[in-house]
Amino acid sequence: MADSKASLSIDGKVIADFPILTGSAGFDVIDIRTLGSHGYFTYDPGFLATASCESAITFIDGGKGILQHRGYAIDDLAKKADYLEVCYILLNGDAPTKSQYDEFKSTITNHTMVHEKLVHFFQGFLPDAHPMAMVCAVVGALSSFYHSDLDINEPTQRMRSAHRLIAKMPTIAAMAYKYSIGQPFVYPRNDLSYAENFLHMMFSVPAEEYKVSPTVAAAMDRIFTLHADHEQNASTSTVRLAGSSGANPYACIAAGVASLWGPAHGGANEACLTMLEEIGSVDNIAKYVAKAKDKNDSFRLMGFGHRVYKNFDPRATVMRETCHEVLKELNIQDPLLDVAMELERIALEDEYFVSKKLYPNVDFYSGIILKAIGIPTSMFTVIFAMSRTVGWISHWDEMLSQPGQKIGRPRQKYTGEINRTFVPLDER
Ligand code: SDX
Repeated sequence: MADSKASLSIDGKVIADFPILTGSAGFDVIDIRTLGSHGYFTYDPGFLATASCESAITFIDGGKGILQHRGYAIDDLAKKADYLEVCYILLNGDAPTKSQYDEFKSTITNHTMVHEKLVHFFQGFLPDAHPMAMVCAVVGALSSFYHSDLDINEPTQRMRSAHRLIAKMPTIAAMAYKYSIGQPFVYPRNDLSYAENFLHMMFSVPAEEYKVSPTVAAAMDRIFTLHADHEQNASTSTVRLAGSSGANPYACIAAGVASLWGPAHGGANEACLTMLEEIGSVDNIAKYVAKAKDKNDSFRLMGFGHRVYKNFDPRATVMRETCHEVLKELNIQDPLLDVAMELERIALEDEYFVSKKLYPNVDFYSGIILKAIGIPTSMFTVIFAMSRTVGWISHWDEMLSQPGQKIGRPRQKYTGEINRTFVPLDER
């Protein structure tokens, strides 16, 4: 709904007026869709001030450290709901009734197996292949198994793909881990919860059933919830852009996995733990903080900073509490936590970090919890991708349900050569 207008004038001459649209919360937006007809484009590399879409799924207020999924605060969801309930909320818009939850849980549970032929995809990887490389490839290949449900204009087929992806990601993730350590794949079990099932597929072996600790399962489920969705982040925007061309949902999610892998995004949790291990002890922190502040040094403190949160990441607050609970319950004294806590204390007091509003983000504590659970560092981003699949597919579904959806096609500021005469090679 247009409430007021923004006038663009250049050198004192009014070029055009543009409607200002108001959402239900957050910044108003200037609707510049007709700007091209006036001979101008906007210029916003990295999309620091660009709304790419209209969405009702997740709201973030970076200044106040607010994160809400369909209006429900992340703190409430993390402590009062399980991950599958959060999946239902993200996909459907409202908290489920008990019978809706039970039906959804049964649907997901009964889609956890993968086609037996998918097992052979892993055989082509070298043993030291990164699990993210395997997950990215195998998820993209899923589309070759489901020809009947790929009509993206059909809401029930979109939802069936969403259920399949949410259900199968843990199975594929665990298969990537098992392949990387040379152990046989473990089939899912329908009598276990989503988090318990993932841990079972990760750590059971034919010779011995893995006893799932309720504490570990609860922490795993909370990590899934805290990573479920986050508005228009890089990987979600990648999924939306891929989906805008009409690509099938499995290809779109594979694109999201690829984008998440970067160390500036979902790869930060793996990079953060590697950094903490490299720092090694509290005595070395000052040296690394100085490197992070040095303009001539590309080193950054992984797990710090955020494009949107300029106060604190509410997920990091919940993750910090969970981190202490897990380490206490499992009676683990992890020196890396000492390094992490001291690094957090220093960074929160240091003028450089305070002035640039660099606070611990969701990736800072998740790595320590995952390590305490026994998850190898190379699997951290895979777990992030598993958790974020519901967010990606919810945004994909929302985009395709909106009328008049156009293919995403940004423009550019061209700075190259123009109108050059081409001299054929044998004349040059
Ligand atoms: C995730 O978008 C999302 O929602 C992402 C996510 C999600 O749930 O999907 O929340 C998940 O990706 C969390 C972020 C994980 N990444 C890291 O922890 C990697 C380390 N952090 C950064 O690289 C950085 O902070 C970003 C990428 C997260 C944000 O980068 P911005 O917003 O583009 O900010 P910037 O790079 O322009 O940095 C602003 C200033 C710069 O200094 P100046 O050029 O102004 O002098 O802050 C500095 C940067 O050099 N800076 C850091 C820093 N992060 C930014 N300096 C040291 N250490 C850091 N971590």
